[in-house]
Amino acid sequence: MNNPKRYTVTTALPYANGPIHIGHLAGVYVPADIYVRYLRRKGADVIMIGGSDEHGIPITIRARKEDTTPQKIVDRYHELIKETMMNLGISFDFYARTSSPVHHRNSAEFFLDLYNKGKFIEEISEQYYDPEAKEFLADRYIIGECPVCHNENAYGDQCENCGSSLSPNELINPHSALSGAKPILKTTKNWYLPLNEYEDFLKEWILEGHKNDWKSNVYGQVKSWIDDGLKPRAMTRDLNWGVKVPLPEAEGKVLYVWFDAPIGYISATQEWAEASGKDWKPYWQDENTKLVHFIGKDNIVFHCIIFPCMLKAHGDYILPDNVPANEFMNLENDKISTSRNWAVWAHEYLEEFPGQQDVLRYVLTANLPENKDNNFTWTDFQTKNNSELVGILGNFINRVMVLTEKYFDGVVPEKTIAFEELNQLKDFPKNIAHYLEKYEFRNALHEYMNLARLGNQFLQIQEPWKKQDQPEEVKGIMYAAVQIAAMLAQLSEPFLPFTAEKLCKMFDMKLKNWNELETSAEILPALHRFNKSELVFSKIEDKTIEAQIQKLQNTKTKNNMTNPNAEPQKSEITFEDFTKIDMRIGTILEAVKVENADKLLKMKVDTGIDVRTIVSGIAQSFATEELIGKQVTVLVNLAPRKIRGIESQGMLLLTDKEDGKLSFLVPEEKTANGSMIS
Ligand code: 2FM
Ligand code: ZN
Repeated sequence: MNNPKRYTVTTALPYANGPIHIGHLAGVYVPADIYVRYLRRKGADVIMIGGSDEHGIPITIRARKEDTTPQKIVDRYHELIKETMMNLGISFDFYARTSSPVHHRNSAEFFLDLYNKGKFIEEISEQYYDPEAKEFLADRYIIGECPVCHNENAYGDQCENCGSSLSPNELINPHSALSGAKPILKTTKNWYLPLNEYEDFLKEWILEGHKNDWKSNVYGQVKSWIDDGLKPRAMTRDLNWGVKVPLPEAEGKVLYVWFDAPIGYISATQEWAEASGKDWKPYWQDENTKLVHFIGKDNIVFHCIIFPCMLKAHGDYILPDNVPANEFMNLENDKISTSRNWAVWAHEYLEEFPGQQDVLRYVLTANLPENKDNNFTWTDFQTKNNSELVGILGNFINRVMVLTEKYFDGVVPEKTIAFEELNQLKDFPKNIAHYLEKYEFRNALHEYMNLARLGNQFLQIQEPWKKQDQPEEVKGIMYAAVQIAAMLAQLSEPFLPFTAEKLCKMFDMKLKNWNELETSAEILPALHRFNKSELVFSKIEDKTIEAQIQKLQNTKTKNNMTNPNAEPQKSEITFEDFTKIDMRIGTILEAVKVENADKLLKMKVDTGIDVRTIVSGIAQSFATEELIGKQVTVLVNLAPRKIRGIESQGMLLLTDKEDGKLSFLVPEEKTANGSMIS
């Protein structure tokens, strides 16, 4: 769409069931933020919408795993994700949540509108049901033996051991994750959107209408879905977590999460409008609004087929102008995975690299998986920071600041020479804009860095430091160098907003309208005075990178353990080390609670060598009376320690049970006190 009146830019709503990682950032939020910041700089009327997707099975699964409620899960992660996004400078106009009353009302109304227009078909189908828990079961909630690899804990939709896609009826001995009962099939009524009836609309709108302007990965996926033939899809589910279906006959049913989540963009716009005294309607209903959905490739079908069919069925809404979906970002050549903890978590990055948000933004942008999956590695992160941000951009800015300070007391000199580089300057905002309008963020960033390269070359060729006897020449060179540096500061903002702020402060300059940059011959006039210079980027040391690689290595070690919950092995010891340890079988003679200490017991133990006092933190696992006469294993040559003022002369060997209680390591048969363990 040329010359839209306004832009509505949406970003996929991440499930609030865990923190966000670099894959989310590279897939959606960093490119969307660059795009929106650029549009704002052009003076466009644009809103950037985001928020949490708080419904669906991913939330209830997480809640079960953590033995808590879905509400607690979404409350926790919504706040964490929102804060992380803000701290990374992702500049949402509104960050909503799908649990908000506005959204519940809005998505229910949307459903009713379609229902009243007769857009749904009602279908009775057989679904799996847990007769004990009295609940229908999503495929994820059915567990059984994988028919392929015989893993006993495969899910009804997938076996995580061998990666096979499954359906519940393929599982051997299926049982419910809720109660353990065998699921039965039970009939239920749901409301379906007949996607097959929208094939002609989709063909005309996307396959013909967007053949040339949509990315080939997006177009290709949509085409193959349409070519395979579309089927009616259920828009309601028999679940209890979500937006209630607003029909009296739909007790116990909620809207399909992919029905309500994209409506979340509209609800968020309504909340934004309410808070800022605007009208939300033009942003969703005016044909002159350019609607753009930023998403990852796993969301293509929902944003290019299902949601547009919903919008079309409703009739009052515009359709997306583009859906620039990205492919996936891998980490160190391995797929990012939340369950395997194989990720660089954004909130951890912020803690471990304080003040370095732009380094991550830069490296992710330079590697965006725009057309195919790409890879993030810590060594590349270091190289891009040290050689490009520090070595090229930071170096040039620093040289300009230092030389202007040195030769002209920090005041911009007069233009005495019409260097060709000055004419070239305005091509950069034009070229960058050209790439950004086409969602080619890597090319845009590359072009930006070309300007920094040009600046360095210019100084290298002109060598003002060798021309101290030609003051007019030095003025001209430094005037031009200042314009390049100032242009770099101006253009950095969409990509590196924190750096832009620092640079503007150093140059004592405000951000200009982008269109002005495309025509201006001068960014900072002669006699303009700079503020003090600051360090913009700094080198990342090898040890910092090694620590990150080690962190991932630890994850890998953990993932390869047969029990991933076990502690990793401690560092190796020699046989001599082992022979120093003296462990004996003993018998507990007395046990009393230690006053004012919930966990501690004081015991008298016959070790065969002597009778000694041992204090141990086992009071919550055993009653004192059950301990008397019990055989135990004692580490007898441990140096005595004072615990709550009592000298403990050894240690009892115990292990954790699954229920969180402790159990003793004891011989299988009664054994003489003092027997050695070897
Ligand atoms: O894939 C996901 O993480 C979904 N929660 C994205 C939803 S996008 C939109 F429709 F809200
Ligand atoms: Zn399997």
